[in-house]
Amino acid sequence: MAEEIIIVQGNGTLEGEVAVSGAKNSALKLMAASLLGQGETVIHNVPRISDIDIMGEVLACLGARVERSGHTLAVDTAQVARCETPYELVSKMRASIAVLGPLIGRFGQARVAMPGGCQIGARKIDMHLVGLEALGVHFDVDHGFLEATTPKGLHGANVTLEFPSVGATENLLMAAVVAEGRTLVENAAREPEIEDLARMLSAMGARVQGAGTSTIEVEGVPLSSLHPCEHTTVGDRIEAGTFLAGGALMGGPVTARGIDPAFLRMALMKLEAMGCNVDAGDDWVTVGRTRPLDPIDIQTLPHPGFPTDLQAQFMLLAARAEGNSVITENVFENRFMFAAELGRMGADITIEGHHALVRGVPRLQGAPVSATDLRAGAAIVLAGISAEGETRVHHIEHIDRGYEDYVGKLVALGADVRRAPADALPSR
Ligand code: UD1
Repeated sequence: MAEEIIIVQGNGTLEGEVAVSGAKNSALKLMAASLLGQGETVIHNVPRISDIDIMGEVLACLGARVERSGHTLAVDTAQVARCETPYELVSKMRASIAVLGPLIGRFGQARVAMPGGCQIGARKIDMHLVGLEALGVHFDVDHGFLEATTPKGLHGANVTLEFPSVGATENLLMAAVVAEGRTLVENAAREPEIEDLARMLSAMGARVQGAGTSTIEVEGVPLSSLHPCEHTTVGDRIEAGTFLAGGALMGGPVTARGIDPAFLRMALMKLEAMGCNVDAGDDWVTVGRTRPLDPIDIQTLPHPGFPTDLQAQFMLLAARAEGNSVITENVFENRFMFAAELGRMGADITIEGHHALVRGVPRLQGAPVSATDLRAGAAIVLAGISAEGETRVHHIEHIDRGYEDYVGKLVALGADVRRAPADALPSR
């Protein structure tokens, strides 16, 4: 298919209400967890994005039947007999590693290609492996494949994670639910998506307590007592945060609906500190601004700290603030590629290790730019809306990985944004 780009005319407009989709980072793991249900699991509020399609392919390749109807996904894992995921799929999406825990739980073994994914640092999986080893899993690496076996079966254990890794916590949970005895995961990740996964596992018959806190306790049950269930995916706090950052940048007000404001507490505190007006109800948040943005210091941390997945969007806000901001990235190495793209539009950003010094500038200029990863891609489009003139965003496949109809939602908020085939356009 011909490369598509996004063309943005900087009209500085973003105002109104947007319905937030289901969380990508939750739905992917819920799909993986359906492997433990051995029948038809129905998941609602699943975003239409390419990462979900890839996870669907991973499951299909294992023998599952995956059918979509609107935002509902039916995943029938009754016929799954294989426990191997191929390189072609895993290399497209790192989150495919989420099938490791459930495959081990269901078959006592798994053969999973080593993951690839976003170009945002080394992104190792050592903590997944150390945790699973404590539950009795033995790992070998065979020509780029990770081979997991459980010579003496899965058993509960006390596991303290070195860092509250989201993926490691999820893989551990999905194996521990069918391990014999009790598992205690300490220093567990506390992201809302972990709670969502635990809710679904509980609805399947698992016994999980403490998800959303640093200590998760799992009382293993026999695989045969887990059953398929029906579950609704939690709203995407990062998608919401992206549109709200847009409201802060352009003035808004922008309302994101379909999200628990508590999931965004730190980001909303930072928006208020920058001089924005924030209002929130049960399942919505509104952000607007009537005066210039104040500079801000931000450091990314595991939840409930400031999310790394909103770092680029807030770097953009800092780039337009009146003064100097410092942004520190603590979760991923190499997640500042966005700074160079924003620099092409006139931002003044100096990177020093994992710190970025952002000197606010009065305006940005439209330019040809690239989406360097999923979140940076979403942010660079917002930058284009706020800039003078035209911005052409290349490599928008990154945006399609995680934002359902991003262009359509921005247009509904008044932005002048469209997709176009790259080769059909006159070069400038
Ligand atoms: C998930 C999210 C991603 C988000 C991130 C942090 C999905 C699909 N992705 O990614 O959007 O940015 O959480 O909130 O849910 N690490 C290790 N060894 C490990 C595991 C992780 O060194 O075994 C490191 C990683 O390289 C990274 C950091 O720990 O630097 C955080 O990783 P983790 O929390 O596991 O993030 P993901 O689950 O990959």
